[in-house]
Amino acid sequence: NTNAIVLGIETSCDDTGCAVVDTNGSILGEALHSQQLFHLANGGIIPPFAQDLHRQNIENVVNTAIEQANIRFEDLHAIATTVKPGLPLSLTIGMKYGKYLCWRYNKPFIPIHHMEAHALTARMHNKHVTFPFLVLLISGGHCLLAVAQDIDKFLLLGTTLDDAPGEAFDKVSRRMKLRNIAEYSQLSGGQAIELAASKASDVLQFKFTTPLLQYKNCNFSMAGLKTQVQRHILTEEKKHDVQPDGVIPHINNLCAGFQLGVTRHLCQRVQRGMTFVKRENIIPKSKQTLVVSGGVACNNFIAKGLQLVCDEMEYYLVRPPPKLCTDNGVMIAWNGIERWRANLGILHDFLDVQIESS
Ligand code: KG4
Ligand code: ZN
Repeated sequence: NTNAIVLGIETSCDDTGCAVVDTNGSILGEALHSQQLFHLANGGIIPPFAQDLHRQNIENVVNTAIEQANIRFEDLHAIATTVKPGLPLSLTIGMKYGKYLCWRYNKPFIPIHHMEAHALTARMHNKHVTFPFLVLLISGGHCLLAVAQDIDKFLLLGTTLDDAPGEAFDKVSRRMKLRNIAEYSQLSGGQAIELAASKASDVLQFKFTTPLLQYKNCNFSMAGLKTQVQRHILTEEKKHDVQPDGVIPHINNLCAGFQLGVTRHLCQRVQRGMTFVKRENIIPKSKQTLVVSGGVACNNFIAKGLQLVCDEMEYYLVRPPPKLCTDNGVMIAWNGIERWRANLGILHDFLDVQIESS
């Protein structure tokens, strides 16, 4: 029952993250190196480049978190590291460094599942988030709706049939050439679209139909919304004789229409999930909580839509702060703490642990 301290390392995609968290959920130290600007300039993530950047930054990121926590590696109880799912080249860097530290300081290694870590982060600060709860993970790489039943037990209700929502935001933003607008050049696709949409004069100028309405399941699909954006852009480009790297005149309205389409789709799927969970008695009425996390959970318009669904379905909506929604080391360290407390997957013999891409 002593207060344990765990170091967490995250390198599954394009963020090198590290944090030191204790059993109370206090963040003692944290550091993050984001590769976002580098990859934006390349039009997307090129895995060997991401790997190089992780390799160049990991030592510094880890040392910064340790220094901020004002502890020594010897003081740690364990080291937790993301080993799945993610880009293999990226995952490898964190796993090797985590194992190296465990070997050097004689600490146990805790392999972490990136999605489980996203899902459980909300429990760090919010005591109302107890098992079982509903969780929606929406980011550039993930899209899933699940019931978190325990630290290592998840009932998957739905996943995406094609792109993740953040991936769709990024692709659509590229197609809209939002990066050619100086104000948006440093933003991710989702951030750019949300900002442009907030300036819309007519959200309904461009019509979008909601995907999968006729399917009675909880899966997601972004393909139809992307095709609809493409069609609207082509029509407008022709009508207004837009130059090759120019932006269509009513770009804000188009962003707002697309964002509304995505929101309607996410909300409709979540509502279906809630109805299913109720019918099957999977979550007691007194515990009806929806946690939404992942980079796309930073979108305030989508969050408002989800709040309406929660009000209607008598769910309590929990949205971790933006810096905990996107990839970070804190969520990995916290998952390590959850596992430490439950004595789940604490490995003293870890040299054979391998990464898994999916
Ligand atoms: O969780 P995250 O940092 O990385 C992973 O994909 O795992 O999420 C990044 C994604 C990007 O696709 C980005 O476009 C999207 O989250 N995103 C947003 C917003 N902020 C970030 N999407 C919609 N609205 C936002 N405000
Ligand atoms: Zn993630």
